This record gives sequence, C-alpha cells and structure tokens, in this order.
Amino acid sequence: MEICCIGAGYVGGPTMAVMAGKCPDHNVTVVDTNAARIAAWNSSTLPVYETGLDDVIAACRDRNLHFSVDIDEAIARAEMIFVSVNTPTKSYGIGAGRAADLKFVELSARRIAAAAKGPKIIVEKSTLPVRTAQSLKRVLHANGDGHAFQILSNPEFLAEGTAIRDLLRPDRVLIGSDDNPDAVAARQKLIDVYTRWVPLNRILTTNVWSSELSKLVNNAFLAQRVSSINAISALCEATGADVDQVASAIGRDTRIGPRFLKASIGFGGSCFQKDILNLVYICEYYGLSEAAAYWNGVLEMNDWQKRRFVRRMITAMFNTLSGKRIAILGFSFKKDTNDTRESPAAYVCRDLIDEQAQLAIYDPKVPAAAIMADLERLTGLSHQDLGGRVVCERDAYAALHQAHALVVLTEWDEFGDLDFERVLDSMRRPAFAFDGRNTLPHDTLRQLGFEVYAVGK
Ligand code: NAD
Ligand code: UGA
Repeated sequence: MEICCIGAGYVGGPTMAVMAGKCPDHNVTVVDTNAARIAAWNSSTLPVYETGLDDVIAACRDRNLHFSVDIDEAIARAEMIFVSVNTPTKSYGIGAGRAADLKFVELSARRIAAAAKGPKIIVEKSTLPVRTAQSLKRVLHANGDGHAFQILSNPEFLAEGTAIRDLLRPDRVLIGSDDNPDAVAARQKLIDVYTRWVPLNRILTTNVWSSELSKLVNNAFLAQRVSSINAISALCEATGADVDQVASAIGRDTRIGPRFLKASIGFGGSCFQKDILNLVYICEYYGLSEAAAYWNGVLEMNDWQKRRFVRRMITAMFNTLSGKRIAILGFSFKKDTNDTRESPAAYVCRDLIDEQAQLAIYDPKVPAAAIMADLERLTGLSHQDLGGRVVCERDAYAALHQAHALVVLTEWDEFGDLDFERVLDSMRRPAFAFDGRNTLPHDTLRQLGFEVYAVGK
C-alpha cells in the first residue's frame, strides 16, 4: 500500500519511521511544507532527537520511507493519508488562547481534495477537538471531485523521549470510525497495518467522537495527576512531609498506581496545556461551566507551581537575585528530548530574568539559538538586551563557574552525576542548589556544604 503522512514533525517523523520499519512492503512518504525540516529528515542530523530514532530511520529511509516536499504527488499516489500537522492553541479571534487552531488541518484537507485522483482513507493523527472529522468530511466532499473519502480517527499517545519505545509497544492503538460498511473496510485496512507489530487485543475500536475525545481526556488525566502531586508538594514544604515519600506511599495503592506522581516545577510540552485549554473550551461551548472550571484548575495549579519555585528562590537568596549569576541546568520540557515547547524551564528563566538575574544556561540537547529564541519571545527583550542577561554554556561546569545558585529545571541523567566537590569549589558562597526535578543527591550536596531546596521537601 502507498501511505502518505502530511506533517513531518515530532509525531509524523517517528510514527511513520516505525510503520515503515514494521511494514517493508508498504511505501511510506512523509511530506511537509517546511523544506528545511524535510532536508533535515533526509540528512544525518535529524530534526527530532529521540533515543533509537536514528537506527529506525537508517533501516528504512530511501527503501520504503521517504521525506519529500512534493505534497500533491504523494497525496495522489497514496491510498491512506495520515494527517499529522500541528494543532496549536488559537492565538487570534474567537477562542483565542483556548480553542485549537485547526487551520493547518483544514488546509491539509483542501490539499488532499485538490490533489486526489481517486478514493482515499484519511487518518486523523493530529490531536483534534471532538467532532472535527465532521468538518473534514464536509471540506473533502465539497472539493473532492466526487471521490470517496473515509475518515478515521487514530490519535497518537507517544511521549517524547520514549517515542520509539511507545510506538513499538503501545499500551493501545485507538481507531475511531463510522459503522457503515465502507468505513469498517477502511478501518480494517488500518488495523491490518498495526497488527504487523501490535497484538490485536491492544487495538481498540470506537466511534469517531469517542476516539477524538479520548485523546484530549487522556492528556487531561495525566496532567491532572502532575498538578495533584504538585499541589501536595506545597503542603509538604509547609509541613515537613516529603513529597517523594507521599507519592511512593499512595502509588502503592493499585487503584492509584505509581506513574505521573513525580513532583516538579510543573508540566510542559506542546500538548498538555493546549489540550486542556481545548477541553475547557469545548466544555464551555456546551454550557458545562463547572466541568470547564474543574479542568482549568489543573492549568492554574501548574502556573502557580512555576511561580512558586521562583518565589522560593528569591526568599532563600536574601530577597534579591539582581546581578547574581544563576546556573540553569536543563531547558527542554523533559529529559531525552530537544523539544522546548511550553517548557516550564523557559517560564522559570523568564521570571528570573525579570528579577534581573544573570543566567548561565546549559542543556545537553537544546541548541543555544533555540534557547535564545524562546527567551526573546517570552521576555519581549531584543536579541542584544537578552545577550546581556543570558549566556548559554557548553557544559554544566562552565555554567556553574562563579554561580550563586545551581538550578535544575530538566531531569537529564547527567546532572545527578556531576562532580559536586568540583562544582562547589567553583561557586560563590553560600552555594545554593534548587532542584526543580528532585533528581540531585540532596544528602551528598548538604554534606558538602550546599544549601539545598527541593520540590516538596
Ligand atoms: P510539529 O509542529 O512538530 O509538526 C507538525 C508539522 O506539520 C510541521 O513540520 C509543519 O510544517 C507541518 N504542516 C503544517 N501544516 C501543513 C500543511 N498544510 N501541509 C504540510 N505540512 C504541514 O507537531 P507535532 O508535535 O508532530 O504534533 C502534531 C500533532 O500530533 C498535534 O496535533 C499534536 O497535538 C499531536 N501529538 C503530538 C505529540 C508529541 O509528542 N509532540 C504526541 C501525540 C500527539
Ligand atoms: C504527553 C503524554 O504523556 C503522551 O501520551 C501524549 O501523546 C503527548 O503528551 C501528546 O499528546 O503530546 P509528553 O508531553 O511528550 O507526552 O511527555 P510526558 O512524559 O507526558 O511529560 C509531560 C510533562 O509533564 C513534562 O514536562 C514532564 O516533565 C512532566 N511530568 C511528567 C511531571 O512533572 N511529573 C510526572 O510525574 C510526569
């Protein structure tokens, strides 16, 4: 089968690479309007950093996996088309700041309709508000020259940093479809693709609306757990309880389970906030204001947690950060990814810059240019002004040199393995350590002479 995927991003690239790897007899073409991104997928420096991705790409690129800017040609050839374009929060007009911006999805549908020369199976891979398939259907049928289009919902549940593992061994694959014979036949074709490597009992089928909504709800439930434990982290700090001990105790209850109970500076990433905002917007649209307020609380708690972390730093450091060199370790939104979208680290850095701190930032995978671009956007400072307040360093030791404080904002493994004696020797006194991810060896640091602050402790 000829398969096309529109959108060569964090989802489209890895998802299609795994699919091509597992289905050598299908031909997969990933297309994008962003020529630089396609060129990177065709180079030795992939645009996405994911453990194991290089090997998967090397095994099938130019065999049955292709990256191309020739969108119309790939659409025309394909029998099945995945739509994996970005669906960011709308930044303009009605619903600005809350609703999902569906312009890229609609443009993809119009492009499919214009380029199609026969029937197509369209698979929604992007995360979409419930009932989007209805709009897609109308756009396709109004412009599609009479061709038959079947629309399936197949949301993606991979997490960045573990994308390849998640794709190879998904907890489940969710496929939403209509129940007429043509839709069921289309759904079966997609099931036949996945069963090459996913056991049939892990493939769930639902109606389209349940599938679309389940994706938003899945992210909302995960984010809600992080906000719940972060709320408790504040109580732990106030009472002398230890949030990791509390998480471990409640996580042993099989009804609760241990995962997503790690207290932090707050959740980030391109999706949790965007999808909850969207869920809140949909609840409001249907007049369900109490349900909307409930889920909005998850976001309010997350914002409070980021601000609370900075306030604690200011209080500990004698109520002023002005002119102090602060070493920031980690800028990506979680470890093992180069993605900085909605990274809580960026918001903490913005607030520290507001306090006139001098930041020395190091992240193992995020390039300096990306860090500076994010901070320029968040602070509104010019490139030059920002350059006077922020430097990006080549490693953690360089960032920590002459710093007043060591601040962990992303839980990269290497930060726990630093030579802390060497670090302390190079820092100013008192040497503060603020662990926003509870990843440092706190007792060792205290014994050496650091003043340590950890989340929820
Ligand atoms: P991304 O921004 O990394 O990639 C999207 C790509 O689509 C971009 O390269 C963009 O240039 C391209 N694009 C946009 N409009 C296009 C068009 N009309 N024609 C061709 N290309 C076009 O986004 P992503 O992180 O891959 O996310 C894609 C979708 O998957 C979103 O809906 C997101 O919510 C969802 N999702 C993301 C993740 C994740 O971990 N990032 C996980 C699950 C689901
Ligand atoms: C999340 C979901 O886990 C995926 O299932 C989903 O497909 C994806 O969103 C999406 O729709 O984009 P991702 O954002 O890549 O994946 O990463 P997570 O592991 O969920 O972490 C999200 C944020 O929560 C990170 O900032 C992480 O540091 C934080 N987090 C996570 C915590 O602070 N504590 C935890 O216990 C877990």
